[in-house]
Amino acid sequence: MLLGREKEIILHLPTPIEYLPTISAELGIELYIKRDDLTPLAMGGNKLRKLEYLLKEAQEQSATMLLTLGGVQTNHGRLTLAVARKYGLKGSIVCVGDYPGELSANLLLDGIMGCDVWIKGSEAGKSDSQVYDEILPGIIESYESQGEKVYFIPIGGSNELGALGYYECAQEIAAQIAGTALEGARIIDAVGSMGTYMGLFSAIINEELPLKLTGISIMPYADIKSTALSYYDRMRDRYGLSRQASGEDLELVTAYDRGAYNNACHEVRQAIYYMAEKEAIILDPCYTGKAFAGLLEMVRKGEIRQGEKVIFLHTGGAPGINTPHHRIEFEKEREHFIHVL
Ligand SMILES: Cc1ncc(COP(=O)(O)O)c(C=O)c1O
Repeated sequence: MLLGREKEIILHLPTPIEYLPTISAELGIELYIKRDDLTPLAMGGNKLRKLEYLLKEAQEQSATMLLTLGGVQTNHGRLTLAVARKYGLKGSIVCVGDYPGELSANLLLDGIMGCDVWIKGSEAGKSDSQVYDEILPGIIESYESQGEKVYFIPIGGSNELGALGYYECAQEIAAQIAGTALEGARIIDAVGSMGTYMGLFSAIINEELPLKLTGISIMPYADIKSTALSYYDRMRDRYGLSRQASGEDLELVTAYDRGAYNNACHEVRQAIYYMAEKEAIILDPCYTGKAFAGLLEMVRKGEIRQGEKVIFLHTGGAPGINTPHHRIEFEKEREHFIHVL
């Protein structure tokens, strides 16, 4: 029970925190990685912690289907389908974006799990959320007319309930580092729909955990701090959290978002190669690779100081390396390592 809410236990917690000796020595910081990519079910990732709470609510409502939204290669969608399948429910994802012309990466995994994915192209002059609003009611109605009871999960599982998964994760990290030199360390995470960051943030300030938190945005936000503060206020109202938050409490870095969501970027691929070559850990091009590229620049610019203790949160997403527009770039840059005899 956390803040009055129960969860369905899906994960084997805690996930490990590992030291990265080679990169630490090269960067001059003490770099650790929290392996939330090693969570079970359909190649793992951060969404499973959120889904422990969301699934419980779906079960309490006797839902027969989990339905969520996302980009065409949504990790959150893949893991929502995984949880649906594992717990005997149907799963469906509604996407706004272009069909990539092939089944690969998350989309292939969605198909392998035998779940529906509805894809509607973006429309000029309309925001993606307007397009969702137009198509979603009809899709839900058609399932319900076939007798399904749909439990709707917002993008990224990022509502007050989903964020509890990362409230709990911050407590888990605090317990793992208690009495070690990592007390006071800075967690760095990728910020997309923000539930991961908000869960961590809410726990750190309300439970007075010996942790700092830096979120690196992976896409442009019109006003990231006001989005975060209104999310926090909803958390506070829903769970009766005692602490008020202001913009100064938030460390949300927008300088390394590379201008768009899930775009192919040279610097991000360089960061992915670096982590893979030095520590044999695979990051993804949409979230963790972008955040790690940001971390590397923050070290270079002194925004992360020499000797600082940092815990990089690996939130998963590796299937994304096979997304066609990323894979093409990896192939161009790395093909010369393949020697066909
Ligand atoms: C691999 C990965 N990392 C990080 C995130 C960002 O998490 P959040 O949406 O909670 O900000 C996501 C969200 O989809 C993700 O799939």
